[in-house]
Amino acid sequence: MYYGEKKIEHPLRWAMVGGGKGSQIGYIHRSAALRDFSFTLVAGAFDIDPQRGKEFGEELHVAADRCYPDYKTMFKEEAKRQDGIQVVSIATPNGTHYEITKAALLAGLHVVCEKPLCFTVEEAEELGRLAEEKKKVVGVMYGYAGHQMIQEARKLIEKGALGDIRIINMMFSHGFHNVAVEKNTASTKWRVDPKIAGPSYVLGDVGTHTLYLSEVMVPDLKIKRLMCSRQSFVASRAPLEDNAMTIMEYENGAVGYLWSSCVNCGSMHGQKIRVIGEKASLEWWDERPNQLTYEVQGEPVRILERGMGYLDESSTMEDRIGGGHPEGLFESWSNLYSRFAQAMDAMDKGQGVDFWYPDVHAGTEGVRWVENCVRSADGGAAWVDYR
Ligand SMILES: NC(=O)c1ccc[n+]([C@@H]2O[C@H](COP(=O)([O-])OP(=O)(O)OC[C@H]3O[C@@H](n4cnc5c(N)ncnc54)[C@H](O)[C@@H]3O)[C@@H](O)[C@H]2O)c1
Repeated sequence: MYYGEKKIEHPLRWAMVGGGKGSQIGYIHRSAALRDFSFTLVAGAFDIDPQRGKEFGEELHVAADRCYPDYKTMFKEEAKRQDGIQVVSIATPNGTHYEITKAALLAGLHVVCEKPLCFTVEEAEELGRLAEEKKKVVGVMYGYAGHQMIQEARKLIEKGALGDIRIINMMFSHGFHNVAVEKNTASTKWRVDPKIAGPSYVLGDVGTHTLYLSEVMVPDLKIKRLMCSRQSFVASRAPLEDNAMTIMEYENGAVGYLWSSCVNCGSMHGQKIRVIGEKASLEWWDERPNQLTYEVQGEPVRILERGMGYLDESSTMEDRIGGGHPEGLFESWSNLYSRFAQAMDAMDKGQGVDFWYPDVHAGTEGVRWVENCVRSADGGAAWVDYR
């Protein structure tokens, strides 16, 4: 159980690029980062429109002279201060992530970047090398991974509760974009523009979240080859897809399926992962994140509940309230921000950490998966060796 005790000695001086007023994801970044006193928001370039960004920054209690018109000015000016920023979160549309992350690392900052980290594996590997060279953490916001029942699934699988893993069945398929909503919504419009969104829409926007959950739950699985078929049911979205099915074969003979979609009419969020072993299965659904279904062949179904004493200790230590009370996405994000802070603090002291978090390598794997899916889909849904 976590009561709000400090996790690092001094809060890290933190800034945001993007996440301005009206953005989809800015508020949850601030809520997650500020909740546990591991970060203090001291600066920002919050908006593509400098005036709007400045006004909004002041509403967030950021000093007027630290609400910057753009990230380049912010990095330059903050570097001159004794009390300059140490960390920046990047919550802008996809096409800017690579250049802003690179500039932040070159400015000697730790980074929390939204997914996708960038557009190509080559760029991602470059960012990974730069982070290593600069001794900086790059956290990537696969925000669902901080739910404690994801950790419980990982531990159960590690302890052999399922036996050898055979199948991973995944979906992140919501229905909110079943028609061309992008004609009227700015934050959906850029998502179907390849120049800003990158080489995919739903594969990168939603599919990579669930892919990362599979990597957390079953860390030793490595994809050997995959095939992907993608469609644009709303024709104006082509060449980007609003629906895709990916089939994966892993090195150890297991198989995986991942359905990524935004045209699954009637589905609210529709992110599920079912890991099937030779003895039993586990299933987690993000619309009921406090529960993990554990099904042993031939026995009654068990619903494991967050916050209960029968769970692994590591899956309850981030509980903020006892079992029975629902925790949700905001807590999941807070857990990740807390891990980012501890990893950054440890890195600054030349130390390592003994917990996992979505880092630059996780970001790279997401980009790699999209790149392979697109190569397969655009080659006629051909099987491609994973590279
Ligand atoms: N992790 C998640 O669960 C999750 C959920 C939603 C979105 N995202 C990701 O977050 C990012 C932002 O998505 P969104 O839906 O909030 O987008 P949005 O369009 O709603 O908001 C983008 C914000 O960034 C600002 N901005 C754009 N370019 C900028 C620049 N160069 N400098 C400073 N500010 C700039 C805009 O003014 C706006 O405030 C995307 O990469 C998206 O994939 C992640």
